[in-house]
Amino acid sequence: MNIKKIREDFPILNQKFNNNELVYFDNAATTQKPQQVIDAVSDYYQKYNANVHRGLNFLSQKATDKYEEAHEKTAKFINAEGIKEIVFTKNASESLNLAAYSLGEKISSGDEILISVMEHHSNIVPWQMLAKRKKAKLNFVNITSDGRLDLDDFEKKLNKKTKIVALTKASNILGTINPLEKISKTVKDNGSYFVVDAAQSVPHTKTNVKKIDADLFAFSAHKMLGPTGIGVLYGKEEILKEMNPFLTGGDMISKVSLKEATWNKLPWKFEAGTPNIAGAIGFGEAIDYINKIGIENIEEHEKALLEFGLKKLKEIDKINLYGPEKEPRTGIISFNLKNVHPHDVAQILDENAIAIRSGNHCAQPLMEKLKVDGVARISFYLYNTKEEIEKFVNAIDQTKKVFGV
Ligand code: ALA
Repeated sequence: MNIKKIREDFPILNQKFNNNELVYFDNAATTQKPQQVIDAVSDYYQKYNANVHRGLNFLSQKATDKYEEAHEKTAKFINAEGIKEIVFTKNASESLNLAAYSLGEKISSGDEILISVMEHHSNIVPWQMLAKRKKAKLNFVNITSDGRLDLDDFEKKLNKKTKIVALTKASNILGTINPLEKISKTVKDNGSYFVVDAAQSVPHTKTNVKKIDADLFAFSAHKMLGPTGIGVLYGKEEILKEMNPFLTGGDMISKVSLKEATWNKLPWKFEAGTPNIAGAIGFGEAIDYINKIGIENIEEHEKALLEFGLKKLKEIDKINLYGPEKEPRTGIISFNLKNVHPHDVAQILDENAIAIRSGNHCAQPLMEKLKVDGVARISFYLYNTKEEIEKFVNAIDQTKKVFGV
């Protein structure tokens, strides 16, 4: 992988902030966009802006082709059967809300839903709402002391009442990669539906939805070089067929009378209203970009950064690191300097044009479990370098001096 050449594709990385080169270490929040993606979005608006699935005119035809092509590229990227299994949403949160709302119709009073304490709020709150609506019980799989899913606890909490299991593939704080391929058979043998939050895994590792055998699987374009405002809900065709739409209105219907309506074919049944056409086209371009580099190469590069970053951070005195000691884990490192608030760490780094995230990272139950208010987090992607990690470590030394740590 030629990182220097890759970096040239990202205009934001080639600017100075406060006279410093930007070190962008907040990729778990959102990634930067290559010129190719920016151009694809702009080309749509400049050259063939039109609505999709509506006009017979040549502009609408081209927009529709490109919009549907983005579904095809997504299906291929995660090894789905085809576009009927790929629903475009606004983001991973909307995908999980769709899952909880529509699959949730199968839940009755007394049923159970099983999630874990390491989930992002997007994979907690929709299930809390569902449990309240249906008088069902929400259970939580615990984590081990080194930040992994506690598989014994999982076996204990999965029971005949468990209708839905919804777990993250990779934690946005701990970096833990959960062995979902291993547990999906247990979930299926139990007769439960399996929903996966894959927002932090699809951008970083090869995905095969058939291997994970999830019924529903959510992720977002903006975490993988694509535009904001476009997310994905993959669903097995037979499951999506059984589910009712979450949002209703234009394009998702087959026939409407004054009394009732029937639904369009998959996936359009779940895509009500004018969609984010530009975002979808940009997402298709982002997938092309990742394919050109090779997701395996990206994964290998991030592993090297993670290893180097962990080694360097472990050498720092008075630092707490969170997450598993060893692989499998993704390129995310969360930490706290003793007696320094993570927001203060982020602010000093920001003055050096090093962008990180601090706070509770939309995972308050996990914060409670870790017994902290918040953490500072760095997260890598394909354009990051070891030199940037060295700059970051120097800035941490500086932060420690400022706060007398
Ligand atoms: N879920 C994103 C993060 O962890 C926004 O930062």
